[in-house]
Amino acid sequence: MTMKTLRQLTIVTLLCVFCNNNAKTSSDLMSYDLKEILSNLSVQEKIELVTGVGYEYSPKGMTGYTTSIERFGIPHMALLDGPQGIRIDWSKKDFNYSIRPTAFPTATVLASSWDENLVFKVGEGIGKEARHIYADIILGPGINLQRNPLGGRNFEYYSEDPILTGRIGSSMVQGIQSVGVGATLKHFVANNSETNRAALNIIVDEKTLRELYLRGFKIAVQDSQPRAVMTAYNLLNGVHTSQDSKLITQILKKEWGFDGIVMTDWKSGTDPAKQISAGVNLIMPGSSNDRASIKKSLQSGKLRMEQLDRSVKEVLRAALNPLPTLSSYKLSNKENLLKNNRSLARVAAANGMVLLRNKGKKLPLKGNISEIAFFGNGSYHSLISGLGSGRVCSTYRVNIIEGASNFSYGQSKLLEEIMRNYLPKSNPHSVCDYGGGFGQDPELIDERNFSEKEIGLIERQSDAAIITLRRLPGEGKDLSEEDHFEVSQTERSLVRSVSEIYRNKKKPVIVILNVPAPIETESWADFVDAILVSWLGGQEMGNAVFDILTGKQNPSGHLTASWPKKYSELQSAHGFPGIVTSEKLIPIFAGGDMAKPTKIEYLEQDAVGYRDILQSQKSVAYPFGFGLHYTEFELSNMNVKQRPHNVEVSMTITNTGEVSGADVIQVYSVNSDKDDVKYRELKGFRKTDILSPKQSADVTVTIPYRELEIFDNDNGCGWMLEQGSYQFFAAHSSQHIMSSQIIELKGDHSCEKNG
Ligand code: BGC
Repeated sequence: MTMKTLRQLTIVTLLCVFCNNNAKTSSDLMSYDLKEILSNLSVQEKIELVTGVGYEYSPKGMTGYTTSIERFGIPHMALLDGPQGIRIDWSKKDFNYSIRPTAFPTATVLASSWDENLVFKVGEGIGKEARHIYADIILGPGINLQRNPLGGRNFEYYSEDPILTGRIGSSMVQGIQSVGVGATLKHFVANNSETNRAALNIIVDEKTLRELYLRGFKIAVQDSQPRAVMTAYNLLNGVHTSQDSKLITQILKKEWGFDGIVMTDWKSGTDPAKQISAGVNLIMPGSSNDRASIKKSLQSGKLRMEQLDRSVKEVLRAALNPLPTLSSYKLSNKENLLKNNRSLARVAAANGMVLLRNKGKKLPLKGNISEIAFFGNGSYHSLISGLGSGRVCSTYRVNIIEGASNFSYGQSKLLEEIMRNYLPKSNPHSVCDYGGGFGQDPELIDERNFSEKEIGLIERQSDAAIITLRRLPGEGKDLSEEDHFEVSQTERSLVRSVSEIYRNKKKPVIVILNVPAPIETESWADFVDAILVSWLGGQEMGNAVFDILTGKQNPSGHLTASWPKKYSELQSAHGFPGIVTSEKLIPIFAGGDMAKPTKIEYLEQDAVGYRDILQSQKSVAYPFGFGLHYTEFELSNMNVKQRPHNVEVSMTITNTGEVSGADVIQVYSVNSDKDDVKYRELKGFRKTDILSPKQSADVTVTIPYRELEIFDNDNGCGWMLEQGSYQFFAAHSSQHIMSSQIIELKGDHSCEKNG
């Protein structure tokens, strides 16, 4: 075939992927073309296709860019961070995209809504913004588990539970991809802490790895066909994840059937040839060193041409084969899109906030409250996201005090003046001040000490007190027990003094937790009337807080991680965030920096989060799955049925309270025949529609057998459904069971299934 005809055929192919009824299907054409293109590419071109163009050549604002080869019509692919929205720093002078991105609520907030439809819509909203600037692939969602409350990137992840993570992650991928933009599951796998992340070896046994850490990825790969998967910085059982062929080729590609692109995390791994031979398709962000190293490895025979070709093929397939949804979504008017996304960010934030305490039903705020005293720096400088690559540079943020004034609440003038003088003078609306957000937040200062006299004067000017406690997480470092999990002396005495003074006057005290993950509540919760977790709630957070506080919206978020009483009680606290294994430095990037190697052994195996708490019967501050509403729900008619491919758990839910609201139904199960499994695990869930008072709804939670399977490592059976009597629990949290039923499941002892 001549170059000219090849180019024509490529162009025909590019056109044909947009049409539906060709005599030859696009995949026929693609496979034919790919071979042809491959055989005509030079070695240098192949090497360029599997390495990104590098920071210096990426268009400003894009996170990564792949190589184009014009003579074959192979286009660039533009990659853009996620997962909270699109990360483009529009404040840079030479940035010329027109869109000003929406900072949606962080991942934990979305998952806390337990609402797959809502998460789909947020994904769609993010995808539409990405399409406006012609990005091809979003670098999100994050599918790692919140193994430990101090994990630095917990805010970018969904939950401590893999099934919830996999299902919410699938909805996000489906939403993003519904408008033709690809999604990337990251970070594959076991990026559950950040300290020394590129030299950190995670040691975990196969069964735990499969049943917990890989399970969410497996669900999302199988249910949503993401365009890409990104490997992690850490090593897994001694091997860099990007150089691990068992992980990438055997498990992800062969067992799960993943057929998209596997890319490395930015500058991760130490050996490009090993990455390509392990099954990586794209080394990101790519550098001339990477290219030289691949070339050398080809010459020395360390890397074979067919291994390189295999990687090139996947990149070509993605670059030449847009998602089918690309042609059906037409760019909408930008102003409308941003307006819709603003409302969506608010709805999503309100749906994910979790009401932990409402003593004496002080919430929603009653009509006699018009002036509020806002304590805590976070009321004025509210945190809407964490630092790092996930931080979205939005044009504004609604702080909690602004939410209050949008609802016409006044504030104590004295307190306002004190805080104005105390807080740094940075622009409270800008979230782009810190170079995309990898550094420290200049607004982050300690809480002010208030004297009882001051609080007394402030109390006279207000009908209620709101105290916001905040914690800022970020990529590249973990939180600490002392500074983040624990409540500081100043914070505790602020909560105690404000509570005493206000409650003496029968005025409510509400704590807002503007935090990414659980903190200690045991020592102070009883002082206050109500606790609302606003999380890092995105740019509309202040409005959403008042949607909940005023009762405009009934809270319906439930926790996606357990809130322990004491950090040290957790088994995952052991050895966190890693212990040094040798004083000898090891390379952490190809041709780059060195660090001391560290390791974390996941000795607790599956005893993570509520599994840990249920197994060892620890008491917990707030259990996994917990959340209060302004109404009550009752469950009746629970019925469990075994179907050919799944188990169906049906029930009737009735709103027995006085206001409308949506319930979150969680289904847990345990194989009661097994001596070694003593605790129930989440297997399915469903958020109901909004039910009016006295209204009932029939709800069915469908649980595919896949979610009930265990990974049998001892007999080499792989994934299998064991025969036994399974007890199914319909619940409002891992510890609030409403009804249960036992059924016999036939099981599957073929011992041949895998994947
Ligand atoms: C992060 C990734 C991110 C990438 C590109 C890395 O530091 O771990 O999550 O997508 O940078 O910004």
